[in-house]
Amino acid sequence: MEKKRLLTGIQSSGTLHIGNYFGALKPFVDSYRSYESHLMVADLHALTTLRDPNLLRGNIVDVVKDYLAVGVDPREAIIFKQSDVPEHTELAWMFECLVTVPFLMQAHAYKDKVAKGIEANAGLFNYPMLMAADILLYDAEVVPVGEDQRQHIEYAREAANKFNLAYGETFTPPQEMILKGVGIVPGTDGQKMSKSYKNTIPLFGTREEIEKAVMGIVTDSSCERPEHVYAIHTLFRSESELAPLYEENKGKYKNLKEALANDIDAFISPMREKRDNITETEVKSILKEGSERAREQASKKMSDVRTKIGIAI
Ligand code: TRP
Repeated sequence: MEKKRLLTGIQSSGTLHIGNYFGALKPFVDSYRSYESHLMVADLHALTTLRDPNLLRGNIVDVVKDYLAVGVDPREAIIFKQSDVPEHTELAWMFECLVTVPFLMQAHAYKDKVAKGIEANAGLFNYPMLMAADILLYDAEVVPVGEDQRQHIEYAREAANKFNLAYGETFTPPQEMILKGVGIVPGTDGQKMSKSYKNTIPLFGTREEIEKAVMGIVTDSSCERPEHVYAIHTLFRSESELAPLYEENKGKYKNLKEALANDIDAFISPMREKRDNITETEVKSILKEGSERAREQASKKMSDVRTKIGIAI
């Protein structure tokens, strides 16, 4: 049976933590092989908030390394860079000419910025139409995203419908695949693990960095089992494996933290080593090959689009 096509876009969010891993990267790695997968580095989307060329260059390489290190195989997915396929911005323009300003004004991401008093640039305003182009250009039916991106997929469906209505059946309306992962990954203070709470455990951290983060897990001396330590531990071991360990070490928080640091390190070290061994040259060559394959598909689709809308004369 033919595999359905999948596309997702990634932007570097800086140093990854185990919350990112269990919430987004792992569920992607676990499922991408069942589809004809496209993994796109959304560097043009990054421009809506980033103005530092060195940082952007670094982020592009880093995010590819991250995905390779956690197990994405470049032979089983097209890994490419958005800006290498100019058809994305071309198609985005066409969608922008089909949707209305009030429609785009309803987008959460835009409304949130405005509510915070941030003056949104026009790129940010049009962000959903570039994202629609990313998806529709490849007729991707399945789009793995986090819950926060659900509305953007609705926008992509709307763009597809508007175009199809105006010019005839051309695009397949996509469906979001909400990456559930393990639910909320607790941080070192028991709240959801998040960079903004400074409660993270780094995904590719060194042994020392892991230890430091684990030793910093907040414990409440009034109970025998340190709940936050235990909660994080369940990501790495089953509850039945943990039961005897926590029984033996009742109240001995230091021992339990050491055991947790060992387990995290054992889990992370193969990925960390893999990541350290990926060179920038390798990343560039993967992106180059991926972009060529993506471009081939995109240009076919666009020649149909150009004909349909009447600019190919
Ligand atoms: N907006 C997405 C995010 O911030 C990234 C993205 C860009 C994307 N283009 C996409 C995701 C296309 C899925 C499909 O996470």
